[in-house]
Amino acid sequence: MADGNYLLGVDIGSSGIKLCQLKDVRGKKTLCKFGYHPLPPQTIVDGHVMNVGAIVDGVAQLLADHKVKRREVALAVSGHAVIIRRMALPLMTPSELAEQIDWEAEQQIPYDIKDVQIDYEVLRRRPEQGQMDVLLVAAKKEEINETAQLAREAKLRPVVIDVDAFTVQNTFEANYGISAQGTIALINIGAALTTINILSAGIPAFTRNIINGGNAITEEIQKRLGISWDEAETYKTGAAFVGSDPRSVVPQEVPQIIKQVVEGLAGEILRSLDFYLATSGEREIARIYIAGGTANIPEVGMAIERRTKAPVELLDPFRDIAVDLKEVNADLLNLHRPQVCVAIGLALRKDREKA
Ligand SMILES: Nc1ncnc2c1ncn2[C@@H]1O[C@H](COP(=O)(O)OP(=O)(O)OP(=O)(O)O)[C@@H](O)[C@H]1O
Ligand SMILES: [Mg+2]
Repeated sequence: MADGNYLLGVDIGSSGIKLCQLKDVRGKKTLCKFGYHPLPPQTIVDGHVMNVGAIVDGVAQLLADHKVKRREVALAVSGHAVIIRRMALPLMTPSELAEQIDWEAEQQIPYDIKDVQIDYEVLRRRPEQGQMDVLLVAAKKEEINETAQLAREAKLRPVVIDVDAFTVQNTFEANYGISAQGTIALINIGAALTTINILSAGIPAFTRNIINGGNAITEEIQKRLGISWDEAETYKTGAAFVGSDPRSVVPQEVPQIIKQVVEGLAGEILRSLDFYLATSGEREIARIYIAGGTANIPEVGMAIERRTKAPVELLDPFRDIAVDLKEVNADLLNLHRPQVCVAIGLALRKDREKA
């Protein structure tokens, strides 16, 4: 079997763990394993793992249920732990940049440089202006170590630790190609967190995290109706279902509450995009692709489209990645389709040591 050295992609989101594995079938990237394991509320709070056991057990169960043999894994750290900056620096050689990067990072990062892992990439050189654009990524060592340790406890071997916003970009590029035209925004709207990554001519130009997501909707339903979290969650997902039946069992206030919270979230997203447009001098965002579980709510895409006046569509992680239906449960996958963009982006990574 041509497993192509793809790493196992495991996305430990605050609401659930997603596991994906790819292989090449006649030259086409193909999903050959998919698993989802919901996590109880409070397992991860504000990006911090509160319940290691729930995650370790969840991963173990996924590996067993789906008969996953691969142990080399790619994981993501969430935006809570990462700062991403695009900087314009004077033109310099790679060795000069390597020498200077820590100093530059100190100017840009509000943490002690000892506590972060610095990574950087020259995005583009602009000799006419004597400048170059550099992407600086600083991830807190504590969170990287915590994530790697979780994987080890689950008997996995962490090989790659990526940043969630970039994994979504990976998934986008694998399915839509590298878009050289126009400026697009990739927005991943999860349970606790929303990440925005704006690509200008295919290059990350701006990233931002908004500490807001589907949990805010569930909380508001819970509070306003005085019901349990689980009930509120069921009403929320039921109300998002556009059928004839579900609405009859969902209290009539629910769609209105969803609409209100979603408006707030769309407003926050608009402010980030406006900030980017104002500071970059670009005129418009040509298209917005949304992902994450909360993107399932049709009102989310509609509200973002209304506010930003940019066309919004769901990022399809299987536009150009095939699915092996002998191995993967299609119903389970369809239920979680918008939620797998981070895990697919991770599963696209390869084990360099063996490749
Ligand atoms: N069909 C649906 N309708 C409405 N909301 C949904 C639906 N499916 C999932 N969600 C919501 O999506 C969120 C989970 O999405 P996702 O899996 O992308 O988040 P996560 O990765 O676990 O969280 P985070 O990255 O924010 O820590 C939850 O708030 C969940 O209620
Ligand atoms: Mg997530």
